[in-house]
Amino acid sequence: AILPHTKRVYFLEDGEMAVVEDHTIHITNARTGARIKPRVQKLTWSVAQAEKGKYPFYMLKEIHEQPAALEQIAATSLPYTKRIAQAIKKSYGAYLVGCGSAAYACIAGEYLFSKIARRHVNVAIGSEFGYHLDFLTPKSALLAVSQSGETMDVLEGVKKAKEKNATIMALVNVVGSTLYRIADDRIPIGVGPEKGVASTKALTGMIAHLILLSYALDGRGSEGVAALKHASEATRALLSTPMIKKVVDLVRVLKNYNHIYVIGRGLSYPTSLETALKIKEISYIHAEGMAAGELKHGTLALVEKGTPCIVFLPNDETYGASLAGAMEMKARGGKIIGISHKPHEIFDEYIPVRDTGVATIIPNIVVGQLLGYYLAIERGFDPDKPRNLAKSVTVK
Ligand code: AGP
Repeated sequence: AILPHTKRVYFLEDGEMAVVEDHTIHITNARTGARIKPRVQKLTWSVAQAEKGKYPFYMLKEIHEQPAALEQIAATSLPYTKRIAQAIKKSYGAYLVGCGSAAYACIAGEYLFSKIARRHVNVAIGSEFGYHLDFLTPKSALLAVSQSGETMDVLEGVKKAKEKNATIMALVNVVGSTLYRIADDRIPIGVGPEKGVASTKALTGMIAHLILLSYALDGRGSEGVAALKHASEATRALLSTPMIKKVVDLVRVLKNYNHIYVIGRGLSYPTSLETALKIKEISYIHAEGMAAGELKHGTLALVEKGTPCIVFLPNDETYGASLAGAMEMKARGGKIIGISHKPHEIFDEYIPVRDTGVATIIPNIVVGQLLGYYLAIERGFDPDKPRNLAKSVTVK
C-alpha cells in the first residue's frame, strides 16, 4: 500500500512509539521516553511486483513467477546458504519449524537433509513446537520458515527458543517482518511480494532454499544450484499452454467430487500434504494428503467406486511402493491420477512431470498449485481470498 508513496521505511520494534507530524517523525522508547534515531531501511519491492498486471488473480501471477524466482534463488542465494549451513554444522540439534505450507517445506527439508547431506534435523509444526522446547539447549539451532514472518504460532516458539539461548535463524520472505528482525541470522526467500492467501512461489522458494542448504551442508553447493535450474525448467514446461489445458481438462473431471486423496512416499509425502492443502483451502473440496504406505492402515476403507486418488510417482526409490499403493486403490474402484515422469496402464488420468532428480518435488508441487487454482475457478470461487482464511495468521 505504501510502495507508490515511498520505499523508505522504519520498522517499529516492540515498546517503541512514533509521533508523526506534517514533516517530522519522532521515535521514542515508550517506557523510558528516550529518543531513538530511526535506522531507515529501503524496500526492494516494486509497485509492479505488488500488482496483478495481466493476470486475473494474484495466485495465477505468483504461480507463473516461479521459474524466474527459482532461477534468481539459484543465482544469488548460495552465500546466505553457506553461512546458515555453517551455523547448523556447529549446532548440536537443529530444528525446522513452520506452519501450514511452510511446515510441509520443513518436512521436505528433513528428507532433503537426510538424502543429500546425511544429516538429521528435527521438524516441528509451529503450534506444536512449544511442546518440544525441553530438548532445546544453547547449542540448538532453529531455522524458522515463514513467508510472512508474522505467523504467531511460529513466533511464540521462536521467542521461547531465544529464552533458551538457542541460535535463531529465519527463512522468511518479508524483509523487516517480526521473524526477520528477531532472528540472529536469516535467508530472505527472495521471491517478491506474495499476495494470494494460498502460498505458491514462497513455498517453492522455501524448498529451493532447503535444497541448496542440504547441498551446502554436504559441501556441494554448485550441485544444488544446478538442481534448482533444472527445477525451474521443469516448472516452466508445466506452465506451457498445452500442459495448462491438460490440468484444466483434469479439473473438469475432479470438480464435482467431495473427497480427493493425495498420496506419495519420501519427498512426495510433503508434496501430497501440500497438494491437499492447495485443493481444500481454495476450492473447498475435502482433500487428504498422506503417506502412501498409510493407506492400508485405515484410509482404504473410504475408497469407493470412482474415488479420485492423486498419486505422485517421481523417478526415485519410492516409485514401486507408491505404485503398489495406487493399485490398492484401483482394485477398490479408485480413479487414479498419476503425476509422474512416465505413464502407466493403471492411470485413469496422467500429468507428465519432467524428472529433475531430488528437485522434482518443486514441479510436482506446482501441479498441486495448478489443480487447486483451476478447481477454485471451475467451482466459482476467488482463489486469492478463500473464505475463513487470512494471508498472515497473526493469532494463536
Ligand atoms: C498456505 O497456502 C496457507 N495459506 C497457510 O498454510 C500458510 O502456509 C501458513 O499460514 C504459514 O504462513 P507463513 O509462511 O506466512 O508463516
